[in-house]
Amino acid sequence: MSNIPSDKAVLVTCGLPYANGKAHVGHLRTYIPADIFVRSLKKNSQETTFVCGSDTHGTPIVVNAEELGITPKELVQKYHVHFEEVFKKMGVRFDAFGTTDDDTNHKRTLQIVEKLIEEGYLYPKTIEIAYCPKCDRFLPDRYVAGTCPHCGEKARGDECDQGCGKHLEPGELKEPVCTICRGPAEYKEQEHFFFKLSGFKDFLLEHLENLGGTLNARNYALGWVKQELTDWCITRNLEWGVKFPGHDDLVVYVWVDAPIGYMAFTEQWAEATGGDWEKFWKGDCPIIHFIGGDIIYHHCIFWPAMLKGADYSQPSAVVASGMLKIEDKTFSKTRGYVVWVEEDYLDHGFHPDLLRYYLVSYTSHTKEVNFSWKIFQDKINTELVGVFGNFLYRNLLFAYKNFGVIPEGDIDPEVIEKINSTIEDVIRANAEYEFKKAADTAMALASYGNSYFQSNEPWKLIKEDKDACGRVVKNCIQIAKALVLLFEPMIPVSMEVAWKQIGMDSDIHTATYKEATIHVVSGTALVQPEILFTKIEDDKIEEMTKISSKRVKTAMAKEAGIKEEVKMEFKEEIEYDDFAKLDIRVGKIISAEKVKKSKKLLRLLVDIGDEEPRQVVAGLAEYYEPDEMIGKTVNVLVNLKPVKLCGVESQGMLLAADAGERVSLLTTDKEMSPGSCIR
Ligand code: MF3
Ligand code: ZN
Repeated sequence: MSNIPSDKAVLVTCGLPYANGKAHVGHLRTYIPADIFVRSLKKNSQETTFVCGSDTHGTPIVVNAEELGITPKELVQKYHVHFEEVFKKMGVRFDAFGTTDDDTNHKRTLQIVEKLIEEGYLYPKTIEIAYCPKCDRFLPDRYVAGTCPHCGEKARGDECDQGCGKHLEPGELKEPVCTICRGPAEYKEQEHFFFKLSGFKDFLLEHLENLGGTLNARNYALGWVKQELTDWCITRNLEWGVKFPGHDDLVVYVWVDAPIGYMAFTEQWAEATGGDWEKFWKGDCPIIHFIGGDIIYHHCIFWPAMLKGADYSQPSAVVASGMLKIEDKTFSKTRGYVVWVEEDYLDHGFHPDLLRYYLVSYTSHTKEVNFSWKIFQDKINTELVGVFGNFLYRNLLFAYKNFGVIPEGDIDPEVIEKINSTIEDVIRANAEYEFKKAADTAMALASYGNSYFQSNEPWKLIKEDKDACGRVVKNCIQIAKALVLLFEPMIPVSMEVAWKQIGMDSDIHTATYKEATIHVVSGTALVQPEILFTKIEDDKIEEMTKISSKRVKTAMAKEAGIKEEVKMEFKEEIEYDDFAKLDIRVGKIISAEKVKKSKKLLRLLVDIGDEEPRQVVAGLAEYYEPDEMIGKTVNVLVNLKPVKLCGVESQGMLLAADAGERVSLLTTDKEMSPGSCIR
C-alpha cells in the first residue's frame, strides 16, 4: 500500500540494531530492501533521507557487558563501529547513523518524557517486579524467563519470543526464573511509571486504518488494538540508559528511547547538512519505518501513541519484513541459528551484491525466507550470471571488438517504450513495497535485451551490413544503460563498473531513471569489458552449506543440553584383564536404612542371588530416601575387600552415575535375576 506523495521529502528509517552482537544475514533481510527502496526513490528524483543507528540500551547489553567484564559503553562502542563497517561493506548507505546513547537522543527522550508527564499520560503505580533472592537484584526484562501468560510457551520477561510474539509487561510472566543464576525468582512490590496506552485506543484504530506499508504490520497491530490495550510500564531498575526525570534509580525502558533515536538521528542529519528535521516530525512529510516482523507491536502501537501524546507527527508507513530462517529455525543469535555477514559470507570472498540480489529477489518482502546456499547459487548463476551478466558482456564485447566506440544509429521506438514501461513498473512495484516484483521486472528487461541481440543476429549483420549492425549494437547499449540504472539500487557496486563499461563518466549513484531514455552518444569510446558476475561453483556451495549446518547442529545440541567440544580427561588405558578382575552382579535391594550418626550413608541389604544377602554401605543418603531404594534393581561390585564405614561393615559397592549435584543408581534396562554377571 503506497501513500507517498511524489512532491514531498520522505524519511526512511530502519529498525535499530542492538549494539550487542555481530551483524548477521537476518539483519540484512530488513536493511538491504530498505536501502534498495531508498536508492530507488532517489533514482526517481524523490528527496529522501535515510537514517538509522545503534540501539545501545536495555537489559541484554548490561548483562553481556557484565559477563565480559567491560562497561556497557565499551560494549556498544565496539558493536556500533562493527555495524557501521558492515553496512558500508554491504553497500547500505545511510544519511545518518547515530547511537541512542548520543546526547541528542538523551535530550530528545527527556523532552518527550517530560511532555508526556505534563500532558498527564504518565503515572506512577506500585507493581510486582520479578526479584531474585539469591542474586539480590530486581530482574528487568531479559533477566527473567518463564511462561507466557497468553499462550503458555516459554518466554522472556519482555516478550513471548517463542510463542505468540506478544510484548509482556513486568509481572506478567508466569513461573519466573532468574536468568543469571537459573534459580526461581519471586515478585516484589516497587513503584514504576506507566504510559496510559489504554487511552489511545480510538486514536490507534484510526491511525492503523490509514497506515501504509505492508499489510502484515497493520493487520497484526489492529488485531491487538481491537482486543485490549493495557497501560505500559516504561521504567526499569537499571543504571544504564536514559534517566527517568527525578528518579535516579530508574531509567526509561529501552523501547522508549530507541524509536526516539529515529527522531534524534534526523536531527543529527539536519544539523550536519542544513536540512530540516521538523518537516517530518512536526510536519506532513512522510516517515516510513522498515522493521523486522518481530517488532511490529512496538512500531505500530507504542510508538505512534507516544508520538501522538507528545504532539509529534506519526509514521505514514510501516514495512515489516518476513523473518529469515536457517534450516527451518528462526534466526537467533542467542540461540546460535545464524549466518554471520563477515565470517560466513564476506570473508569467504563473496561479493556483497550477490547477497543483496538474493535477499531482495528471492521472495516477497513479507514472506519468511529459509536461507539456502543452494538457492543463493541458483539465483546468482541463472539470473545474474546467465541473464543480466550475459547480456552485458556479450553485447559490450561485441561492440568493443567490432566498433571500439558506440556506433551510429537511431534508437528503436520499441526499445524506448520497453524501457519506459519497465521503469514505470519498477517504480510502481517499489511504491507497493513489492521488491521482488521490481527485481523480476528489471530482470525481464535483461531477457528482452538478450532476445533483441539474438534475434537481430549482429554477428551475421557485421559481415553483410555494418550500419545495420551498428544500429543493433547501439540499441543494445541503450538497453544496457537502462538496466544499469535499474539495477543500481540492488547491486550498486557492480553497477559502478558497468556504468563505466558503457562509456558513462557520471556518478551512477546520483544518476536518475530519467536518464535511461536519453540516447547513448555515438562515438563514445568503449573499453574491453570485464565479466561482472561469475558462476558460483558447486564445491564452494557445499563448503558453505557444511559450515552453516555445523553451526545449526552445534546450536541444537546446545539447546538439547549436550555439551559440545568439551575437552575430556580420561584415566590411563587398561587391559581387558584389569577389567575382568571386577566381579559385578545384578542385585535387588531388600532393605534400606540410614546409618546412625552419618548424614551420607545408607545401610542396605542386597539380594545378589547368593544364599545370604549382602550388606552394603553406600554414600547415597543425600540423593535417595531409604524407602524409595527398596525393590530397586542395582549393579553391585561384589569382590571388593570389605571395609567398615561408621562402624558398619560394607561388603560391596553399588554402581552409580555421578554428576556432582545429581547422582543416579545404575540399573538394568530389562528385568534381570539377581546374581546375573555384568561384563
Ligand atoms: N533494537 C531493536 C531490535 O533489534 C529494534 C529497535 S527499533 C526502534 O529488535 F524502534 F526501537 F528504534
Ligand atoms: Zn505467548
